[in-house]
Amino acid sequence: MGLVRTRNLSYLQVLLISLSCLEFGCAIDTITAHQFIKDPEIIISNGGDFKLGFFSSTNSTYRYVGIWYTKVSASHVVWVANRNRPLKTSSGILTISEDGNLVVLDEEKKIIWSSNVPNSVSNPSVQLLDSGNLVMKENNTGSILWESFQYPSDSLLPKMKMIIDIITGKNVQLASWKSPSDPSVGAFFAGIYFFNLPEIFIWKDGQPHWRSGPWNSRLFIGIPTMYSLYLDGFSLVDDKEGTFYFTFDFSNKSMLSHYTLSSEGNLEEISSINGKDWEVTWSSLMSECDIYGKCGAFGSCNSQNSPICSCLEGFEPKIIEEWNGRNWTSGCVRRTPLQCKRVSTGGEEGQKDGFLKVKMMKTPDFANWSSIIEDECRYQCLENCSCIAYAYESGIGCMSWSSDLIDSQKFSTGGVDLYVRVAYSELDKKGEVKVIITVTVVLGSLFIAICIFFLCRRKAKRKGGICLKSHGEENLAVSMNKDKVLEELPILSLEELASATNNFDQSNKLGQGGFGPVYRGKLLDGQEIAVKRLARTSGQGLEEFMNELVVISKLQHRNLVRLLGGCVEGEEKMLVYEYMPNKSLDTFIFDPVKQELLKWRKRFNIIEGIGRGLLYLHRDSRLRIIHRDLKASNILLDEELNPKISDFGLARIFGGDEDQANTKRVAGTYSYMSPEYAMEGRFSEKSDVFSFGVLLLEIVSGRRNASFYYDEQITSLLGFAWKMWDTDNIVALIDPVISEPYFQEEIQRCIHVGLLCVQDLAKDRPSVHVAISMLKSEIIELPRPKQPVFSAIQVAPETESSTRIRIEGSVNNVTITMVHGR
Ligand SMILES: *[C@@H]1O[C@H](CO)[C@@H](O)[C@H](O)[C@H]1NC(C)=O
Ligand SMILES: *[C@@H]1O[C@H](CO)[C@@H](O)[C@H](O)[C@H]1NC(C)=O
Ligand SMILES: *[C@@H]1O[C@H](CO)[C@@H](O)[C@H](O)[C@H]1NC(C)=O
Repeated sequence: MGLVRTRNLSYLQVLLISLSCLEFGCAIDTITAHQFIKDPEIIISNGGDFKLGFFSSTNSTYRYVGIWYTKVSASHVVWVANRNRPLKTSSGILTISEDGNLVVLDEEKKIIWSSNVPNSVSNPSVQLLDSGNLVMKENNTGSILWESFQYPSDSLLPKMKMIIDIITGKNVQLASWKSPSDPSVGAFFAGIYFFNLPEIFIWKDGQPHWRSGPWNSRLFIGIPTMYSLYLDGFSLVDDKEGTFYFTFDFSNKSMLSHYTLSSEGNLEEISSINGKDWEVTWSSLMSECDIYGKCGAFGSCNSQNSPICSCLEGFEPKIIEEWNGRNWTSGCVRRTPLQCKRVSTGGEEGQKDGFLKVKMMKTPDFANWSSIIEDECRYQCLENCSCIAYAYESGIGCMSWSSDLIDSQKFSTGGVDLYVRVAYSELDKKGEVKVIITVTVVLGSLFIAICIFFLCRRKAKRKGGICLKSHGEENLAVSMNKDKVLEELPILSLEELASATNNFDQSNKLGQGGFGPVYRGKLLDGQEIAVKRLARTSGQGLEEFMNELVVISKLQHRNLVRLLGGCVEGEEKMLVYEYMPNKSLDTFIFDPVKQELLKWRKRFNIIEGIGRGLLYLHRDSRLRIIHRDLKASNILLDEELNPKISDFGLARIFGGDEDQANTKRVAGTYSYMSPEYAMEGRFSEKSDVFSFGVLLLEIVSGRRNASFYYDEQITSLLGFAWKMWDTDNIVALIDPVISEPYFQEEIQRCIHVGLLCVQDLAKDRPSVHVAISMLKSEIIELPRPKQPVFSAIQVAPETESSTRIRIEGSVNNVTITMVHGR
């Protein structure tokens, strides 16, 4: 996790152990029913990474059975069997007892520790794996009866899971040693805790001592530096059946890492780089602010400040003397009562409460959670007097608080924006500015609304009323409240945008979007933007423009490109986006030079990101949205090459009970189009899944589906992919740039999922949700794909630029002829 701090591990549990390989020799990794090892014998995992045997800790003669790393000079015990009952002499024995349990026996052959499997079998064996897991198996069936990974000591190894099952209450936690030399269970525990959202906690004597903050699907909010080193090494998985687990596995194998809960209650990342000695590379307690609830209720801790604690704005110390004496336990209280409380107790009316925004925060404990969108989140909180704060994070959703705000922390990087409810008068200082902005926005919106109204009227006259028709087939904007959208959209003037883009200079042109050119620009405040300008001459784009405006202003997700504002003045209509320095995915994967930059980990990250963005559109955003034009050139990449889906010009918003829709106007890009959409104009989530499948195969192969040629029979990537799959030659499909043996299995899985996504029949394709689970191996067994017949032939040759194709009216051109011709 992030920060690297170098410190020698003076207190590491260094072993006093004499190694010997007596009866069993060093190669043995298994104990079977009639075998045993006796102090000081050991067994070694097959690849030599871990040893299991007897050890003493520093300054002690007690003997314990444990597992430790072997490849780093200072060995480090990661698991202890008899931690609470040491052997007093060096005559202990580890064996399998008659009842089939793994046991430790003392010199009198009394059992002092047992694996305690109730329904044990007669013929088990115990094997130490290279992962450090000690596994007891039933020999005949191979079924696992017991494993040390389910009963950790103080260390979490790669692939090991911290688990909580909120239904059965079962959990797998770490328990600290009592002291660096005493492995018995100490005061601290670390594990997952679930209160609406899963988080990692450390408890001291049962009280919270540290918390990670909620997981945003990439990192824990309370550990803002977590992602920087090991992109995607961590995961917190929700199996949707009540079980959550946290696990990690870094792809860089030159670094050994594990997590240990120290006897002082620090969760520490301990790493050895290239076989060098262990170092603490991260610790849960980086500053005093990391101690749970350091600043009391409504306090906020900032390790950069002195004193570290302050009250949230609008709050004051409860007991001022104590606070000034740096005793922060009593925390802070509200300075001015909330208006909603005054009203509900029959007091005076007055100005409504508002929210103060506090940036870059670790969110307080005890969040309520819902999946609603950001606007709704704010609204619901404002309307409910018991809601005292909210925060919105795209990887999590809407969090709100109705009890004291405890354990907030202010970061200098990362964190989320926390909105704290305060009385109107507390907004005062910033109030004036706010009023001015509001007025400007309202006037601006009014202006735009009027412009659009006239534009639409004009267009309506010309084209028979497309823009404001209220239940028209192509017209999704109508189901939304357009004025509201416009009101919320920040307004930029034409002048500003012209100066930002150097008068739409050709040199600033980034490319051609769905309905006009896109320019790069820089606002006066230095923010880089991308400006999408509706071509003045084309009357056609207005509809798409409005559509995009409505759709995207409702959406917020880190895998969707973000709309910053819009501009409608006279003939000019523009949308302003965040600028993506790395342009679109197609400029990477199909470029022989830039291809090299996208190694497999990055590509997988991109695939996952697109999947998550799509999942958000289909399911999590509350609106159900079909993108309809997912393709490589619509996937933009930010500076860290994270993908963002863009171009919502064709997107359709679905009503809750609609399952699919028909359109007479097929629009999109052929090589990404599902058969039912291209031929019959039917689309649903599953047509996006088809496009996702094409993208997957393109990303893995580095080749375009369009403009693909193999031989006379195979003129599309999909056809080729199927052929290679069917003839067990899948390696031929993989881009040589990423074809490392280590990732082979994952890459093949991606191709498999890609083929499932491009099945001819929509019902044979997985949903995005299922596709993601398949990709992440949460679903292990994948169905066998059938041959995609439709897509095996190239339906419509396209130019390199893959321009968007439309067929107005009924679908009756080349496409159909060719398909039926087969
Ligand atoms: C793996 O980690 C080592 C040590 O931190 C670093 O030197 C190396 O570049 C890393 N390799 C990759 C592929 O990231
Ligand atoms: C801080 O204040 C609390 C509550 O008033 C009190 O119980 C505690 O003893 C104080 N702590 C110290 C270190 O003075
Ligand atoms: C207001 O919020 C509280 C706490 O979250 C919740 O229990 C209550 O049902 C909400 N009331 C309304 C009217 O939504």
